[in-house]
Amino acid sequence: MLKFKTIRGVYDVLPGETEKWQYIEKTARKVFDDYGFSEIKIPVMEKSELFTRSIGETTDIVEKEMYSFPDRKGEMLSLRPEGTASVVRSYVEHKMYAQGGLTKLFYMGPMFRYERPQKGRRRQFYQIGVEALGLSGAAIDAEVVSMLFTFFGQLGLEGLVLNINSIGCRDCRPVYREVLLDYLKDKVERLCDNCLNRYEKNPLRVIDCKSGGCRELTADAPSILDHLCKVCSDDFEQVKAYFNMIGLDYNVNSRMVRGLDYYTKTAFEITSENLGAQDAVAAGGRYDLLVEEIGGPPTPAVGFALGMERLSLLMVDEDLSLKRCPDLYIAVMGQEAHNIAFRLAHELRIHGIKTEFDHENKSLKAQMRKANNTGVNFVLILGEDEVKSGRAVLRDMSVHDQEEIAWEGILFEMKSRMGG
Ligand code: HAM
Repeated sequence: MLKFKTIRGVYDVLPGETEKWQYIEKTARKVFDDYGFSEIKIPVMEKSELFTRSIGETTDIVEKEMYSFPDRKGEMLSLRPEGTASVVRSYVEHKMYAQGGLTKLFYMGPMFRYERPQKGRRRQFYQIGVEALGLSGAAIDAEVVSMLFTFFGQLGLEGLVLNINSIGCRDCRPVYREVLLDYLKDKVERLCDNCLNRYEKNPLRVIDCKSGGCRELTADAPSILDHLCKVCSDDFEQVKAYFNMIGLDYNVNSRMVRGLDYYTKTAFEITSENLGAQDAVAAGGRYDLLVEEIGGPPTPAVGFALGMERLSLLMVDEDLSLKRCPDLYIAVMGQEAHNIAFRLAHELRIHGIKTEFDHENKSLKAQMRKANNTGVNFVLILGEDEVKSGRAVLRDMSVHDQEEIAWEGILFEMKSRMGG
């Protein structure tokens, strides 16, 4: 029996997988930079109240999924279940609104939700998130979504579906809520247990319920899109027009309301049929009231977050560990050769040449086998004779060719062979 294991829903991300994550993160940084976004590092824990106020008291996240605990002085803290609330807190705390216009931020890191673990659903999971604060308007919504698709495109991902909806504003949503309550009132008893609870507190969530029974029962529910005010409805039309302008296909899903309460107007989710039940790889929307709710001036905003685990599941063909093979392997025989390899490897690595050598006194055959397995491009063979003569064989593994060189000049030799 193992004494210590990771706790349920929490996993190590191991070498082999981390290369893929680094590639995803690097691509995200490049694409987001091209669109003018800067990185923000937000804390892993905050006062619980920040999340309850932002995400909403009656959401599943706040009611059932937060990791909350009192600190030593009894203040209630929570591990962040998402990043938007913290970014907004930071935006207000550091008065970023004072600079005017759009503030474009992105973040990466672990989030924590006490959910039932399954494929693509973990208790500690990683998000890459983006927030654009300061301006309203369909163009910003469309730009943020188009950036997400540029990013997916650079990763070579295809077949992702963009689902969009508008969930109205503080003027039209309450009206729709009443219409919906009225529609649901003679169906309440037949709703699933979750929706029974949602009926009064958060009725919009009922039409987004994934349970078969609720789906059937609400099949002809009134659509929020028929109850939007003029401003929201014009806005939604414009968002679609922008997508059409850049040839981005979308699917209007008037049942999608999202699991966080801060959204207004545009909401979106990007799904893939290759993910199983947890099919949303990224999601977000506009949240025009949140900054004010957290104590800042009225500030419209929009953003999204994507799930790293789900994105990684979609990149099945990507074997990036191969790309990490060393440039040079130094095969050593004897202590003196090992010492020389130690010094040469240090010099080579300082100059950015990936170098490996053996510390285990293995036979030449075993070292050559290891070099081969790593997919290395060049091997330098240093034995006792080579130490004495100052010359050694440099083998080019890709063309199975070899040449004798002065091993002191290996840095110059590698640089010229690698085209630098
Ligand atoms: P969310 O829909 O709760 O939105 O999460 C965004 C994405 O995070 C999901 O689409 C999914 O890929 C991933 N995700 C969520 N929960 C888990 C989990 N338990 N395990 C693995 N992956 C998960 C938000 O978090 C909002 N803050 C997005 C946003 C930013 N809206 C505006 N700005």
